[in-house]
Amino acid sequence: MAKPRILLNLFHPTFAHSRGGKALAEAARQLPNLTFRDMYQEYPDLKIDVKQEQKLLLEHDLIVFQHPVRWYSGPALLKEWQDQVLQCGFAYPPGVGDKMNGKYWLTAVTTGGPQDAYRSGGSNNFTISELLRPFQQTATFCGMTWLPPFVVHSILPVTMGGISDEELARQAEEYRVLLDGIAIANG
Ligand SMILES: Cc1cc2nc3c(=O)[nH]c(=O)nc-3n(C[C@H](O)[C@H](O)[C@H](O)COP(=O)(O)O)c2cc1C
Repeated sequence: MAKPRILLNLFHPTFAHSRGGKALAEAARQLPNLTFRDMYQEYPDLKIDVKQEQKLLLEHDLIVFQHPVRWYSGPALLKEWQDQVLQCGFAYPPGVGDKMNGKYWLTAVTTGGPQDAYRSGGSNNFTISELLRPFQQTATFCGMTWLPPFVVHSILPVTMGGISDEELARQAEEYRVLLDGIAIANG
């Protein structure tokens, strides 16, 4: 077992004003085996350098997609990245189409809503795992291993019922420890 080469692709349209995502990113960036990319900074006009993105994917084992939940999914650039980068012949057949095979996908999200809202009968009606299924199936379709998502709920200002700074720091450290503890075969 070995430590994976981790690629953390951050998709956050308003990262300069972020509370949750910033805490998570700062914790994760302490890891020496992690490449961090702020995708909205890379591609403010949403024009993605597909070859560069595919090269980075090939150079890493574990791909972390970190983003705030926006309308029960991810920000627009994440969808654009999927559409452009996970091409037929690269990520899935025909042709070679197996370049993502054996890699790992970890989705790490923050939500404004509390954990209790994410259940049958709660205000969001579905669990976060259910809502993330399009990402799970994308990973599976590309031959990747889907890891259980890392989720931090209630990222609002503390005055509006958001989690405390201490609790956020604790969960950010949990994120760092999780990423640091992932080991893969033949890495
Ligand atoms: C356009 C938009 C859509 C959002 N949709 C959701 C949502 O579907 N569910 C939810 O819990 N929070 C939603 N939020 C709240 C964000 O998830 C929350 O502000 C973010 O996770 C906080 O993280 P940050 O401090 O890194 O910005 C939405 C926010 C915006 C601006």
